[in-house]
Amino acid sequence: MIVREGAVEIETISSFEKGPGSISPGFYNRSMEASRDFSVALLKTMKPGIALDSMAGTGIRGLRIAKESGWKVVLNDRDPRNTEIQKRNSKLNAVDVEIMGDDYFCAVSSRKWDYIDVDPFGTPSGLLEAAIMNLKNNGIIGITMTDTANLEGKSLDKGMRIYGSRSIHGIYSREISTRIFVKYVMERGASLGRAGKSLLAIREGHFIRVFVRFRKGNKVADESLNEIRNVDVEGETAGPLYVGKLYDTELITKMEDFPFSENSRRLFANFRNEDLMFLFFTNSSDKREIRKSAIIEKLKDKGYKAGGTNFNDKGIKSDCGIDEYTKILKSL
Ligand SMILES: C[S@@+](CC[C@H](N)C(=O)[O-])C[C@H]1O[C@@H](n2cnc3c(N)ncnc32)[C@H](O)[C@@H]1O
Repeated sequence: MIVREGAVEIETISSFEKGPGSISPGFYNRSMEASRDFSVALLKTMKPGIALDSMAGTGIRGLRIAKESGWKVVLNDRDPRNTEIQKRNSKLNAVDVEIMGDDYFCAVSSRKWDYIDVDPFGTPSGLLEAAIMNLKNNGIIGITMTDTANLEGKSLDKGMRIYGSRSIHGIYSREISTRIFVKYVMERGASLGRAGKSLLAIREGHFIRVFVRFRKGNKVADESLNEIRNVDVEGETAGPLYVGKLYDTELITKMEDFPFSENSRRLFANFRNEDLMFLFFTNSSDKREIRKSAIIEKLKDKGYKAGGTNFNDKGIKSDCGIDEYTKILKSL
């Protein structure tokens, strides 16, 4: 079966349109298209370097990076059936990539990288230190986690054990889980004397994906932890989590012209709103639901920045402050 995504065509064995899919060689998962779109778009804004797609499956992400952003790419997967599919897919797209069939740890430690993509099934627990140690200074890692239930569902104790933070249930859990995951990644770097800077974060479907740049230095590594703390959310304590900026606005501006898929474009439209505030406002007042677009329009009329958030369909992000927001909501 051949599927098309971005500028590549990919031979797959099985294809999933929704959800996590099932673990099998040569599988294609449409619901991860946004995760791949943003990897390519982000790298396209930078001077091409060398990238490792460390858990490449069919090779789709790495092949897109090579073809659409001009980076030199190494594909790796320990399953030999995937290695064969990657060879066929690189031929199919006339893309020159190196193909390794090694275990993750051998692949990441085989040289120093400008970008490493870590895309495991479930949690990347145990994988990140090796990647961070083998990044060049100011190199970037893109990491997926698909065990969102451990930070948002019924297994918060497991989330505590894996990610070292207490999450919460409720409307804020998608933003809280994303910020716990960013904290987790930054702490892995800090332990190795590297300061992590969050460049972009996606909370979509069953996954969280973050892109973090790492700079070497003990002092900057210490400072990188300054924005990690516990927070009180609706009477519960969550954290520790990262409360700083999730997006690099300069990068976002450079990504504007990327030919995103429709879904990725929808997510991208909210990126500029996410850092307007920590968490978000909701559209209900005194049990009344007010049209989100009406609230946003009113906020903008008053000179505030405002827009939707990918962390909640009904959420609104704005720089207006809670008192002004409450006043505006009551006036509508
Ligand atoms: C979620 S899939 C990757 C999907 C792919 N990146 C994509 O965008 O379609 C995870 C892949 O990691 C590979 N894998 C799992 N553990 C590995 C390890 N220790 N070393 C190398 N590859 C591994 C699996 O064979 C599987 O193909």
